[in-house]
Amino acid sequence: MSDYKFIAGDKKWWRQAVVYQIYPRSFADLNGDGIGDLAGIIDRVPYLKSLSIDAVWLSPFYPSELADGGYDVADYRNVDPRIGTLEEFDKLIEELHKVEIRVFVDIVPNHSSDQHEWFQAALKAGRGSPERERYIFHDGLGENGDIRPSELISHFGPTGWTRVTEPDGTPGQWYLHLFAPEQPDFNWDNQEVRADFIETLRFWSDRGVDGFRIDVAHALTKDFSDGLPARETMDIDPKKPDGSDPLFDRDEVHEIYREWRKVFNEYDPPRVAVAEASAPAHRLGAYASEETLGQAFNFDLLHADWDTKRFKQLISNSMKRAEKSGSSNTWVLSNHDVVRHPTRYGLPDKTDLVKWYISEGKSAPLDAKQGIDRARASTMLILALPGSTYLYQGEELGLFEVADTPREAMQDPQWFRNPGKSRSRDGCRIPLPWAISGSSFGFGPGGSHLPQPADFGKYSVAANEADPNSVLNLYRTAIAMRKGLQCAEEIKFIFNWNRNVLHFARPNGWQSFTNFGKSPVKLPTGKVLLSSQPLVGSQVPGETTVWIQA
Ligand code: GLC
Ligand code: CA
Repeated sequence: MSDYKFIAGDKKWWRQAVVYQIYPRSFADLNGDGIGDLAGIIDRVPYLKSLSIDAVWLSPFYPSELADGGYDVADYRNVDPRIGTLEEFDKLIEELHKVEIRVFVDIVPNHSSDQHEWFQAALKAGRGSPERERYIFHDGLGENGDIRPSELISHFGPTGWTRVTEPDGTPGQWYLHLFAPEQPDFNWDNQEVRADFIETLRFWSDRGVDGFRIDVAHALTKDFSDGLPARETMDIDPKKPDGSDPLFDRDEVHEIYREWRKVFNEYDPPRVAVAEASAPAHRLGAYASEETLGQAFNFDLLHADWDTKRFKQLISNSMKRAEKSGSSNTWVLSNHDVVRHPTRYGLPDKTDLVKWYISEGKSAPLDAKQGIDRARASTMLILALPGSTYLYQGEELGLFEVADTPREAMQDPQWFRNPGKSRSRDGCRIPLPWAISGSSFGFGPGGSHLPQPADFGKYSVAANEADPNSVLNLYRTAIAMRKGLQCAEEIKFIFNWNRNVLHFARPNGWQSFTNFGKSPVKLPTGKVLLSSQPLVGSQVPGETTVWIQA
């Protein structure tokens, strides 16, 4: 199936890879039903190739009722018919492998969709059945069991328990869901659940999938021996930083990943994985070890202000962590859950992004130039660092967050379930603009499942390609150049008197120099390889990164 030469042999390809995240429903729609599809991705393989990326990560494309953008999976070993077929999936892998792009798929092990056959069977089988054992069912409190088993708030609010109707039509037990009610949590103490995920990992590995992104990897194992969990907050962080939180980041979760690792290592090269885990920094390494998943996302940059000291500190911390776990760094500026980074960088510091979104972008002024300048500079900065960079579709076009999507067009449960309290993630999931004009700006011939802003054409691939200084052309040049500059995973910070400068060197003399300030600073000596803004004589303009060969 996928025995292309580049695949075999190289066991370390993932350590310093550029991975491009595709949100399939919003990438490209070939059949014109308004929903992105696998055929659309196959059609754009040449585009993906033009980015010089090492891998793509596909967000869920499995059959789903779309209660949470596909993170409610009804069948883990199939393709949603609205997105394509398994044959098309095989074709996609083949076409990507031909151009030396590897493929990650998303595994969502904490919860299934309520449409999953196991959950449907659990509803029918009733109280105390083995079918209910695969999920987390409890009786309610009070005489009639109509009070929630505990005061647990779900990540999407307002409650993490939903009551079912028993087969005889009476109100019955409650089941736990850390996310939407359509996403019941699995019981990971159940051996059938464990075995089924192993089968899923093998299913996709056998089809040639190279890696897995593990959704909410820190939530699988739960321990209610001290009573059912109560939580007043919507976050998914452990309240205890020592592995003893009843819901999150428990030590036993790594038993599961050690078992998965054995499966990954049956393949050549071994399949790889990256954990999405919200755990305290000192516990992230456990997800990233060679015996477990191998890599874990570092989300520090998603929350970091544009500040030299802060960047320097988080880079040092990450380097130390990677060394300790034996893994490599991971760098992320955007994904399908957060406000796109040109917007974050273009809003005044400390802007409340939820308020900003709810006000349709009116609560704080967006400085678009500043946003894009900083975005260009930060992308070059992270590409120069040792480790993997995870890019999110559309960031290479310079897309901003869309805050004024008509409220009736929204899809995100985070929006509906907490009126007036949460942001909708639809703002970073708007279908990509490929053409300057025309039906859905080239996304597809039949419109787009989320409305695109009227000015989207100016961010399109076509518009970017026509401008030699565009964001897209910077990404293409920088990623391709980075390939040729790769070397040992080390950096040395170079002191600069100016506290707005972050300057470091890789062992082969490749240097990255970022001016975080607004005023120009003097360019250091060396050959300029690339700059995120045109240099002005021997000055580096504000909010600019330059790569230099010493
Ligand atoms: C992860 C996904 C997010 C999803 C959630 C529940 O955080 O990135 O999109 O809503 O898990 O699966
Ligand atoms: Ca389609």
